[in-house]
Amino acid sequence: MDAEAGRKPLVIAIDGPAAAGKGTIAARLAEHFGLPHLDTGLLYRAIGRIMADRGFDVDNEEIAAAIAENLDPDDLRDPRLRGHEAGELASRVAVHRNVRAALVRFQREFAGRPPGAVLDGRDIGTVICPDATVKIFVTASAEERARRRTDELRAKGRDIDYSRILAEIRSRDERDSSRATAPLKAAEDAATLDTSELDREAAFAEAVAIVLRVAGQAAQTAAVRRA
Ligand code: DC
Repeated sequence: MDAEAGRKPLVIAIDGPAAAGKGTIAARLAEHFGLPHLDTGLLYRAIGRIMADRGFDVDNEEIAAAIAENLDPDDLRDPRLRGHEAGELASRVAVHRNVRAALVRFQREFAGRPPGAVLDGRDIGTVICPDATVKIFVTASAEERARRRTDELRAKGRDIDYSRILAEIRSRDERDSSRATAPLKAAEDAATLDTSELDREAAFAEAVAIVLRVAGQAAQTAAVRRA
């Protein structure tokens, strides 16, 4: 077998809690390494948004799973999905086992196409792509994440209270980490990147360094196996 034929797609799995900076880091890594990027939170956000718009109860697993099975890529384009409210709805639909199951194949197919992909979410390194080449768990203190989210919302003109955002972040962490199916947690073989004390540039530089180090080691191991 020649070296090219034996080469696996470069899959970079980025997980972590809300507002830790993982979305920005994932998008920039994708651009840097010339890979497509899937923000998997958008899938859950779209389901929550569709349910709220149609007046369904987001805690209804059966309806949520039916929407997940019929999700259309166009559903991910709604600009409201980036908002804070959609994040809360997403966290509630994401606890449903059948919703998660309905989204697995789409995410794995995205990750499996050469030359690879960057996916960010909560369970990419643990459930969706346990064999990802590189896994990074991006985190930051709840206080720092609440400060960033508050600044972001105030910059958009929203009159928002820091302590309310902190409470919401804590309850979202709790819901995402304690659910029975695919809870938020770092994969055992993930590198942890704590951005509490880092600005955007420093966090991105650190992420690139992790990818180069881990992917370099993986390539060496694969070359030794092929030899
Ligand atoms: O990353 P985000 O803020 O867009 O995610 C919104 C919610 O969706 C998050 O609170 C939990 C859920 N989610 C998930 O359970 N699994 C993923 N892979 C991505 C998001």
